[in-house]
Amino acid sequence: MTERHVLFVNLRRIKREGLESLLAARRLGHRVILLGRSLPEFARPLVHEFRQVDTYDRDASIAAAREIHVEYNLIGVANFTEVDVQLVAAIAADLGLPGMPAVAALRARNKYVMKDALRHLEGVLPRFARVTDLAELRAAVEEVGLPAVVKPTGASGSKGIFELRSPADLDVAMAELTRIARPDFDPVFRQFGAEFIVEEFLEGDELSVEGFVSGGEVHIVTLTDKVTSVPFHLELEHKVPSALPAGAWAEIGATTKDIVGALAFDNCAFHLEAKWGERGLRFIEIAGRPAGDYIASHLVPAATGVDYFENVVRVATGEPLRLEHDRRLEAGLRFVLADRPGRFEGLHGLAGLGEDPGFDHVFTEVPVGTEVALPPENFGQQRVAAVIARHTGRPGLDALLGRVTDEITAGLAPAAGPAE
Ligand SMILES: Nc1ncnc2c1ncn2[C@@H]1O[C@H](COP(=O)(O)OP(=O)(O)OP(=O)(O)O)[C@@H](O)[C@H]1O
Ligand SMILES: [Mg+2]
Repeated sequence: MTERHVLFVNLRRIKREGLESLLAARRLGHRVILLGRSLPEFARPLVHEFRQVDTYDRDASIAAAREIHVEYNLIGVANFTEVDVQLVAAIAADLGLPGMPAVAALRARNKYVMKDALRHLEGVLPRFARVTDLAELRAAVEEVGLPAVVKPTGASGSKGIFELRSPADLDVAMAELTRIARPDFDPVFRQFGAEFIVEEFLEGDELSVEGFVSGGEVHIVTLTDKVTSVPFHLELEHKVPSALPAGAWAEIGATTKDIVGALAFDNCAFHLEAKWGERGLRFIEIAGRPAGDYIASHLVPAATGVDYFENVVRVATGEPLRLEHDRRLEAGLRFVLADRPGRFEGLHGLAGLGEDPGFDHVFTEVPVGTEVALPPENFGQQRVAAVIARHTGRPGLDALLGRVTDEITAGLAPAAGPAE
């Protein structure tokens, strides 16, 4: 049998998600060629060949992909990460493989370009404006009003989400944003840099829509309910499927199709974030990749039986999707937070949870020994661990997730002080 080769561009930073993406390709019988900045240790046995390239360098990456294609006759190119959406679209177009149109990939990556392309959707978008400095922010807030949110146009992972509740907040937010929106703070800022979007603050229950678009047809797999932290909007809890009523599901599904179509997304997974409130669905953003936070890798499969990552590979290779649900369960995840800065020494209280079969997984998010800092100093360390649970119904799932918060704590030693 001739071997089929699929190109992955980078892996998700969370090891378990990266591992699951490689296992999905293996289940489909494909070999993975990995193009990326580095080859993590866990990936070695599952990667047929690794080509190192600085994937922020578009031309070098496309040149490397061409060479790989000559050698392996690739059947598709897939991404699981946010920063690689445009590169993967460009490689797919260059090699004649299924992919997202370039214009859609730009809309997926830039929160301002995205909203600009959706202006015609009456009542769905917040008021919004593009700003690059304090003077522009002040002028924009005159139109957008308070409360508002200001955030980078091209980041992800809730890096730099600032609520504006009073005029005094504008200076503080812009000072912080200017400090962090630099490539040396996080390479995600290499592309759009110090460009921000200010938006009307949306009220309501936060949710996401997990789906695919293939050959122009939009498929909704499920909806996720989520809880985010105050004030920095770190995601704290996810539950699949959403407990919203059928009418809400129908409206959210219809609006999602309008949004995906208007943005010209195609041949990709998507993850749309929104709020549901008195005024129905209000749109936050949509990504051209599967959801993170173990939603696509663990929660959706556990609750529905749909193998989300396998379908990411299928959509990238132009194979028919397999989205039949084979079960109706509830799956959820709650993060364990560091309540203060300090050196992470591990989790306390796990023994009790281990005896309950409703708990599925415990993942540490930062290595033991990490000097944990909290936002706005660092946006990636406060969530030190994640616990996943399953149940047949929502009350049972809520009880399990409640125990995570009640019983599990992060061991934190005081941060080492400066040497005397
Ligand atoms: N206009 C808004 N009104 C209310 N809340 C908002 C608004 N924009 C963003 N948020 C909050 O901030 C969170 C992160 O915003 P957004 O999704 O735009 O940034 P992100 O960096 O892509 O985050 P992530 O990668 O975690 O999804 C949202 O999930 C939401 O809780
Ligand atoms: Mg988001």
